[in-house]
Amino acid sequence: MQIVASKAQVRAQVGRWREAGERVTLVPTMGALHKAHMDLARLAGRRGRVIVSIFVNPTQFAPGEDFERYPRELDADADLLREAGVDLLFAPGQDEVYPRGLEDPTRVEVPGLSGDLCGAYRPTHFSGVTSVVARLLLMVLPDAVVFGRKDYQQLVILRRMVEDLHVPVEVVEGPITREMDGLAMSSRNRYLTEAQRRAAPALHAELRRCAARIEAGERDFAGLEREAAARLKDAGFAPDYVAVRRAADLGPPPASAAGEWVVLAAAWLGSARLIDNVVCGAAS
Ligand code: PAF
Repeated sequence: MQIVASKAQVRAQVGRWREAGERVTLVPTMGALHKAHMDLARLAGRRGRVIVSIFVNPTQFAPGEDFERYPRELDADADLLREAGVDLLFAPGQDEVYPRGLEDPTRVEVPGLSGDLCGAYRPTHFSGVTSVVARLLLMVLPDAVVFGRKDYQQLVILRRMVEDLHVPVEVVEGPITREMDGLAMSSRNRYLTEAQRRAAPALHAELRRCAARIEAGERDFAGLEREAAARLKDAGFAPDYVAVRRAADLGPPPASAAGEWVVLAAAWLGSARLIDNVVCGAAS
């Protein structure tokens, strides 16, 4: 596996692969890799050459969030990526991604949706995500990019950015990888104490319960949201929100039986902010 830090190096390699008729898929990450990232890398690998980028992006963290304590472990990450058969690790420094510094970097914004759900609690977050992903796509120039479905709102926003800006890249959706007890894998799970880790699967269980109620015909979405938030509080969480939305675009949830819904939640457990979602009701 090659490890490169500059745009020039990654572009040169992508150019060589493309000349050889190979397709290149990028998996952007912030490192602290675990099995869920490996699943995304393997999904990418089925399509041709794989580049994983690791960059802890400062602009998607607000002051007081976990930018400083976000785990950085490039050597261990590189070992995992090698095992997963990744072709190239792109690990640029801050100056490479933001050559003019962080004072007033050019931004890419997806208004509306970026202020909703998680964006209501982290108002600058998605602007940071879209701004860095636009940069990474333009630095690497891949044929396809993989985003995991655990960050459902991020996925919808990034899909919209790619469509609106006519970025010539295919967006591939990666599955949610869960622990045996249902907890969605996340680099932030390591912030949980042992007791919190034992309580954490209740988040997924609650979302599944909501999804099952919707599939059984429940259409009082606001009631479901309130009830789920209350149950999460009882289980020791401090929920930011539980929300039922239209799965396609996170618009208001359709009442029709043929709709496809997504139940999303963000909830604090100690110092870890956990997010998860369950899509339901595809058929009928
Ligand atoms: O999902 C993440 O890890 C990050 O938000 C991303 C997409 C790599 C952008 O920094």
